[in-house]
Amino acid sequence: MSTPGRFIAFEGGEGAGKSTQGRLLAEALRARGLSVVVTREPGGTPGAEAIRALLLDPPGEAWPSQAEALLFAAARADHVAHLIRPALARGDWVICDRFVDSSRAYQGGAGGLGDPAITALHAFGSDGLRPDRVILLEGDEIALSARLEARGGAADAIEGRPAEYHRAVAAAFRAFAEADPEGFARIDAIGTQADVHARILAAIVDLLP
Ligand code: TYD
Repeated sequence: MSTPGRFIAFEGGEGAGKSTQGRLLAEALRARGLSVVVTREPGGTPGAEAIRALLLDPPGEAWPSQAEALLFAAARADHVAHLIRPALARGDWVICDRFVDSSRAYQGGAGGLGDPAITALHAFGSDGLRPDRVILLEGDEIALSARLEARGGAADAIEGRPAEYHRAVAAAFRAFAEADPEGFARIDAIGTQADVHARILAAIVDLLP
């Protein structure tokens, strides 16, 4: 019998190093002989990637906030049904760059729709699937915005929102982690890649077979 798959989500604001750290964790798990799928949201499947384009570069006027939340939930439902659940059923580990807590923090918190609405959409769309552990990368905003600027490129429709919106996102993530200390690992994202990676490994070691 193979061991059950595990589902790890990386969360945090923009520029916190989620995708780099996700890749480093995947390499470390593969080195232990585990089968790992790395994916991201919004996206991860052809259908969800098509919705991603609609969300990050809206045609016409900006989406009303309810439509935005529905599109994120629709993309997630496709991703969960076609990629995440089948991978977990095979016994793979899934590492996902952002998941439902991004919708809770961005659309529910900063966007003002509230947590019950987002949780209800997730219950309907994805049967309420939760990660086994959420790695929340936290850092001071000045250091993170410097990292973001160094990365360059034009901001997408959500990244380009005012600093106040992004502060509300960070506060929402913090509140979720405080309310569920078992489900979330708060990781200090300031430091070398190797330092941050070591903190993340220590935060998931109890899930290893
Ligand atoms: P992405 O380029 O993946 O951002 P990052 O590199 O910071 O992770 O773009 C995703 C954007 O979409 C990001 O601004 C966060 C936002 N987002 C939401 O608002 N709600 C969600 O449910 C998800 C998954 C992402």
